[in-house]
Amino acid sequence: MFTIDLKDRTAIVTGAGRGLGFEVAKSLADCGANIVIGDIIAANAEASAKELEKMHVKAFGFKCDVTVQSDMANLFKEAKAKTGRIDIVVNAAGITVTENIDTISVDQIKSLIDINVMGTEYGCKLALDYMKDQGYGKVVNFSSTAGRMANRALPHYAMTKAAIINLTQSYAAHAAAYGINYNAVAPGIIRTAMWEQILIARAGDDLEKREEHWLAALKANIPMNKAQEAIDIANAVVFLCSDQARYITGQTLNVCGGMRMN
Ligand SMILES: NC(=O)c1ccc[n+]([C@@H]2O[C@H](COP(=O)([O-])OP(=O)(O)OC[C@H]3O[C@@H](n4cnc5c(N)ncnc54)[C@H](O)[C@@H]3O)[C@@H](O)[C@H]2O)c1
Repeated sequence: MFTIDLKDRTAIVTGAGRGLGFEVAKSLADCGANIVIGDIIAANAEASAKELEKMHVKAFGFKCDVTVQSDMANLFKEAKAKTGRIDIVVNAAGITVTENIDTISVDQIKSLIDINVMGTEYGCKLALDYMKDQGYGKVVNFSSTAGRMANRALPHYAMTKAAIINLTQSYAAHAAAYGINYNAVAPGIIRTAMWEQILIARAGDDLEKREEHWLAALKANIPMNKAQEAIDIANAVVFLCSDQARYITGQTLNVCGGMRMN
């Protein structure tokens, strides 16, 4: 029987105040893991934790800005203090900016790098620090199909997601000796708040037009031509966090209905 048992393990999930991060947290909790959430929106982090407690696991939500190293350090410290261990780290917090090369500002580029790349870096390094001595650990980062090739619509977002692929590989190579697996997922198109932001940039308040853009994006990009759901990403992340994935490290798994195949 193929079952994933994460009972009594502790997973830190950043950006789990909503969206894909929350879905990942729910799926990890479903396998028995205790969850520690860090999100820049404190109320969402707390609400998510409350929701997870209903699944009979321990769950804690903290305000944490992933760009602030001391916030991240505090999140790990709290996880260890409250649950006694750290087995899994999922770096899901991220933003996009819907400007192209002609219109994006330097500040917008810097915040993309700060949140998407530096936030992931802090999570990777703290995981290494905590997991090294225990000789075990699973880290999953959030890249994107956008990070796989040139992207005219979201160029600097794509650049940060490409950086995450390489960062994941370097950590995986370094940490293999300590029994820690570093992998990433590259989701395609899921209609979370982030994608709604893209649709608003393309179609404004016109709901019908937004729907048209959404369906056109699916048709143009997804061979399966149907909407992907958050659970599709969560399933992949849970697998990468499982003992069954023990021989997988340094990989970025496309979860995108065939949008990218390498
Ligand atoms: N939705 C998609 O189609 C898609 C596709 C590919 C990759 N992704 C990636 O998946 C991840 C989750 O995205 P989502 O679609 O759920 O978006 P979302 O906007 O719904 O969720 C992002 C979460 O990150 C949090 N966050 C933002 N900045 C933060 C910061 N500085 N510190 C801590 N938390 C912060 C937000 O508060 C939010 O809870 C992101 O890394 C995104 O790039 C999403």
